[in-house]
Amino acid sequence: MKHLLGCFLYHSEIASDASTSCVADITRVSRRFNEAHGITGILIFDGQRFVQYMEGPQQQVIALAKKISLDNRHTNFTPQHEARGITSRLFSGWTMAYLSVDDAEPLAQMWVVDGDAAMSCLQQLLPMLDAA
Ligand SMILES: Cc1cc2nc3c(=O)[nH]c(=O)nc-3n(C[C@H](O)[C@H](O)[C@H](O)COP(=O)(O)O)c2cc1C
Repeated sequence: MKHLLGCFLYHSEIASDASTSCVADITRVSRRFNEAHGITGILIFDGQRFVQYMEGPQQQVIALAKKISLDNRHTNFTPQHEARGITSRLFSGWTMAYLSVDDAEPLAQMWVVDGDAAMSCLQQLLPMLDAA
């Protein structure tokens, strides 16, 4: 049976004792792990806030989200959207795309919305990825 796909979106903030240089370590480790586990998605960072969307086999996504939630390099882990049984991926070509945004405004918008509205905000950021 084909694995059911799930997705998960959350936001968080870098821990006060973590250096922004940890983000390079995170993306390197993520790409290796995610590729091995069929996970794709995007990590966005504005120097303070993270937004991450991941998609893949449901159980893998749930387990990864749980592991990430316990990572002490970030804090205020806040789930925003979760879906099970999705039929397609948004990031099929990316084991974990990384987008660094200079302006605080785009991610600030994600803080005040949830669910489908948060997904719409995410989709609006995607042209920035093509331009990066
Ligand atoms: C903001 C953030 C995003 C992360 N995203 C991923 C990810 O997509 N994939 C991944 O394997 N680890 C990710 N990690 C790292 C995991 O929390 C964990 O450190 C890593 O998977 C290594 O786990 P291990 O020591 O159990 O092997 C992320 C960590 C943070 C702080």
